[in-house]
Formats: sequence, C-alpha cells, structure tokens
Amino acid sequence: MSKALQRLLSPKPTAIGVEIGSSAIKIVALKPGSPPQLTHAISIPTPIGSMREGLVVEPQTVATEIRNAMTKHGLNARFAVSTVPNQSAVTRNIMVPKMARKELDEAIRWEAEKYIPYPIDEVTVDYDLLDDPDSIAEDGQMEIVVAAAPTEAIARQVEVLRLAGLEPTVIDLKPFATLRALRGNLLGTHLSRTTMSGGAYTENGEVALVMEIGASSSIIALVRGERVLMARNIAIAADDFTMALQKAFDLDFTAAEDIKIGYATATTPTEDEEDLLNFDLSREQYSPARVFEVIRPVLGDLITEIRRSLEYYRVQAGDVVVDRTYLAGGGAKLRGLAAAIGDALGFRVEVASPWLSVTVDESRFDTGYLQSTAAEFTVPLGLALRGVSSLD
Ligand SMILES: Nc1ncnc2c1ncn2[C@@H]1O[C@H](COP(=O)(O)OP(=O)(O)O)[C@@H](O)[C@H]1O
Ligand SMILES: [Mg+2]
Repeated sequence: MSKALQRLLSPKPTAIGVEIGSSAIKIVALKPGSPPQLTHAISIPTPIGSMREGLVVEPQTVATEIRNAMTKHGLNARFAVSTVPNQSAVTRNIMVPKMARKELDEAIRWEAEKYIPYPIDEVTVDYDLLDDPDSIAEDGQMEIVVAAAPTEAIARQVEVLRLAGLEPTVIDLKPFATLRALRGNLLGTHLSRTTMSGGAYTENGEVALVMEIGASSSIIALVRGERVLMARNIAIAADDFTMALQKAFDLDFTAAEDIKIGYATATTPTEDEEDLLNFDLSREQYSPARVFEVIRPVLGDLITEIRRSLEYYRVQAGDVVVDRTYLAGGGAKLRGLAAAIGDALGFRVEVASPWLSVTVDESRFDTGYLQSTAAEFTVPLGLALRGVSSLD
C-alpha cells in the first residue's frame, strides 16, 4: 500500500505533549478543534537526580512518574509529542542553491555539517524550506532552516516515553514548540480564535522576539510572519539565579529556590515590595534589597546574552527592529523580569499568555492555577498543539 493511502486510511492519531524539564515534567492534552480545547495540564516535579544537563539519566524513574501522573489525572493516551533538551539541539537558517526537495534530502547532511557542532554521523538532521521554491530563480539560493540533535539524545527521549507506555510521534525542538504555543498571543487576543489554523506567527511584517527561560536552559527566537528568523540557545537560565543565592547565603538548592520565589525581584525593590516581601524578621538577611544585589549580576549576564543574540542576527542578516517581546518558561515569572529586560533593551516586554492559543472550559479548570503556571506550560502546550494539528 502506498504511504499516502495508508495515511488516508489511518488518519494521524491525536498525541499529547510531554516536556521532561529539569525542574518539572509537564503534560498537556488537547481535544482537536479550531481552536483546540484544553483537557489536561499536569505538572509534577522532576525526580531529583533523574536528569543531567537536560538529559534523562534515570529513564525508568521518570517513566514511572509520567505513568502515575497520567493515571492519577485520568489521562488515557497512546501517542505523544516530545522534545529534546535545548542543550542538545541546534537550529540554523542557511542558504543553499535552489534544488528539488529530493536532491535536498540527500544534500542536507553535507550542508548541515558546515554548521552543526557535532560529528555528523552522530546527529539526526531535519530541515524545512523557508521560501517557496517556485519563487526562486533557477540559479538562485533558497533559505532553509536546519534542525539537528544527537541521535542519542532523541533515542533517550523515545526510551523514556516508551517505558511510560507512550508511542512518540514527533520529537520536536523547544523553540518551535514555544512559538507554536504563543501564536495566539503573537497575533493578538482578538485574532487568536480565528487565525490559529493559518501559518503566520505575526501579521503586518511585525517582528517578535520570544524567550523561553527554563530551569537549566533557555532559548531566544525571532519571528516575522511565517518565518523563524533565528532560534538560539542562551547560556543563562532560571537555575542561575537560584545558584547565585545558594552561594551568597550558603544555602542548599531548595532553600535558595524558596528565597528566589519568595523574595527576589529583577528591579530595585520598591518600598511597597520591601514591605510586602520583608514580612518575616527572622529572614532579614534575605531582605529584597539584599536578594536583588545577589541576583543582579545574573540578570546582567542574561541581558548581555540577549544583546549578543540580536547582534548575531544583525551581523548575519542585517538590522532588525523588534516590535514586541514575550517571555515564557518558569524563569519568566521572576518578579519584575519583563520590566527589567524591557528597560535595558528599550523594548516593550511582556510575559506571554500561551492559553490564548486554546479554549479552556472554565468550569473544568482552576483558572487561577492555569494563570499562575502559564509560563511553564508554554513548551508542553506547543508540543500538544503539534499533536492535534492536521498538518505534516
Ligand atoms: N515565581 C517565580 N519566580 C522566579 N522563578 C520562578 C518562579 N516560578 C518558577 N520559577 C522558576 O522556573 C523554573 C522552572 O521553570 P520550567 O519552565 O518548569 O523549567 P523546566 O522546563 O526546565 O523544568 C525554576 O528554575 C523555577 O525556580
Ligand atoms: Mg522547560
């Protein structure tokens, strides 16, 4: 039977989104539709010691957690879309001579080898065309986006999912999942309900900058229209704030994490914040002003990384004016972070609202919980959206 016929006879199954983050395992399930409807949003702490540099090192432990969480929340699913850790993924936009897809399928490894910092026989490479080949002259160049990840990192992810009783349909990269989840946000609330099935991230040629700040890794991406102009890893993540506090106050990781979430601000604390956060006298040494001083250098490094990424883009592709910036990932929730980045760069920066890309039955969900965890659910939501899309 031809592949196309097979696909027609057995339409692509619906898949849930599973992100195994270094801080939390997140699972999102959607009911297909336009827009899709949220049915499950589950987050459980990642078992301590089960991950290293973003990779699962205890597959069975993590798989059992996933299985148990699904059972507890009554989530029945066979198929899953997941992702490799940022640390092991690379994406690049590159120019190649115009050629047919079939030729490109063969040439891609040789083209990719020039840009991918891993031995080429140990990576899995995928690509997508950014230009319509028909619009390019016979001897012209076309822009493609190449994505690569070590085959071993993909195999590890597949192993965990299978141990959890799930069949992976797609292993995606977090930048693409993030952008997919934020499409409703990027297009504006008023449009999200009707334009979700279209291909564009932004309208009217607007450029959006999106950052996803996870516990141990972060990405930054630039998009315009349907095109991802750039997607890169950045070296500062939310754990770096925690580790600075851990060192300064000589605390264990969990205690430092509590201080960060309880007392940290990304701008000089206002008097009100001082009053609000400084309620516990026994914790005077963690006064907001003192905590701010400790995390300030990390914030400076984060802003430097953002500037460096924009500079990298400008050198490669020319000047770009950023119209809007969105932050996602749990790290985006640091009090005042959006304002601090906005002040430093002169941009308007907001914390993203990924749930705008789906409908939520408010009688079935604790909307307060969804609001307060929206940032962390961006990536798994983007994975779940791929799992219910009829495209590709
Ligand atoms: N209110 C908050 N203020 C500052 N940081 C926060 C807050 N809430 C969560 N975080 C941080 O977000 C990170 C977890 O985000 P998440 O996107 O789930 O990471 P991962 O996907 O890597 O597991 C942790 O470093 C956590 O400390
Ligand atoms: Mg994450």
